[in-house]
Amino acid sequence: MTPPISPQTLTFWRRGQAVTLDNVAPDRTLLEVLREDLHCTGTKEGCGEGDCGACTVVLGEAVGGQLQYKAINSCIRLAHSVQGMAVWTTEDLPSASGELHPVQEAMVQCHGSQCGFCTPGFVMSLFGMYQNTGGGQGIDRAQAQVELSGNLCRCTGYRPIFDAAQQMASLPLPAGCGVNEPVVVAALEALGERPAPPANGAYLRPTTLTRLLQDRCAHPRAQVVAGCTDVGLWVTKQHKRFGQVLDVTAAEELRRVETYPHHIAIGAAVSLHKAYAALVSERPPLKTFAQRFAGLPVRNSGTLGGNVANGSPIGDSMPLLIALGASVVLMRWDARRQAVAHRELRLEDLYTGYRTNVMRPDELLCWIKVPRPVETEFLRVYKISKRFDDDISAVCLAIRMTLDGGQVKTISIGAGGVAATPVRARQTEAALLGQAWNADSVMAAVATLRAEFQPISDMRASAAYRQTVLGNLLQRFWLESQGLQSINLESVSMEALA
Ligand code: FES
Ligand code: FES
Repeated sequence: MTPPISPQTLTFWRRGQAVTLDNVAPDRTLLEVLREDLHCTGTKEGCGEGDCGACTVVLGEAVGGQLQYKAINSCIRLAHSVQGMAVWTTEDLPSASGELHPVQEAMVQCHGSQCGFCTPGFVMSLFGMYQNTGGGQGIDRAQAQVELSGNLCRCTGYRPIFDAAQQMASLPLPAGCGVNEPVVVAALEALGERPAPPANGAYLRPTTLTRLLQDRCAHPRAQVVAGCTDVGLWVTKQHKRFGQVLDVTAAEELRRVETYPHHIAIGAAVSLHKAYAALVSERPPLKTFAQRFAGLPVRNSGTLGGNVANGSPIGDSMPLLIALGASVVLMRWDARRQAVAHRELRLEDLYTGYRTNVMRPDELLCWIKVPRPVETEFLRVYKISKRFDDDISAVCLAIRMTLDGGQVKTISIGAGGVAATPVRARQTEAALLGQAWNADSVMAAVATLRAEFQPISDMRASAAYRQTVLGNLLQRFWLESQGLQSINLESVSMEALA
């Protein structure tokens, strides 16, 4: 008989001391703990789904003796996932005598707040930037725009807030406002040496891959989570309850990106921010697309492995990864052999239907293998959404092609938002393979692509719009392959248009 699930204590570092809370339910969010248990109501709840950034707090993690800072959305982050980390909220920034931190002072001086509801979230995103740039050094408007893309404001307008981001470095840091990093690192390392939680705890967060797979084998009914940027919504929006949670993000082996001669391997615990940085360093044209994946707090929490395993038909990573020819490595603990077993399959073969896949109950998606670029490839990925930043795709299309003597030598096309799963456009690929790359073959393929899928109509777009746009994007790919880059949004400067 399975032993009963043990209640679990949560400990994190805040305001210079360890905060310990007993019996924290595994599905309790960090925002609930801050506001309801600790009565720190400076952190606000706006949307409760990772869209608005009102709930942003900053986490600190000791990695290799250094403190790493991440702004995250506390509304969809499960509280136990910050076990052993440092947490800062907007209340923690002023000095004990009430002097404002430079990020707060800059917001005041630049008139970056009106109703103030969004302000604690902006302040914490700014604080994350401040800490990650040695006191806000060198932040320009473009960087501010990217790093604040997960914070929405209905009143102030963004210019004063971007001004504050650029001004905070010039303001003095009052005594008692800064972070004493060696002290915090030592405190976090001491927290990490505390006894491990019980083997049948309500929130399992093993630190090795073998233990993670053994836990999955022992607890196949536990809710698996990574960054929780989608599962968090099941809690806040669908009011789902989880008796036990298995968190993959502490498994040391899965927190790495490994580079091999022919592929890179991205561990399932690697954040979206870090995973996309690795993809962009291999393929620089992906930079704008990477920045349009939600906002930074979501990219800081969410993982590429979670995005892929979750299998949402409108997830942005999968069309790209399908076009790149990525594969996934599924692993499990073979109790009979007392060893790890694994298998590898192409990403598009993972999915069987709407959010269903071929994984066994005891399997976990552990690695994503992405082939490295070949010199001659032409790659584009297009995201169509109502809002440029921080929005969900209505349609996403990724195309990777190589030519040989003016003919299509290889082509792979991944699409999202057009079927119950992320899909590969095999009919369109077949229509183009071996053909001359010219306007006639492209227009024939446009018709094939529009007919290949039967998308649904929903609040993001109608079925007819999706089909039309799919074809239009292939036409755009053709035009860009002919050097017409000016049709890219990336080439439009908003400043120049103003
Ligand atoms: Fe809107 Fe958390 S409350 S992102
Ligand atoms: Fe009102 Fe930003 S100041 S929402």
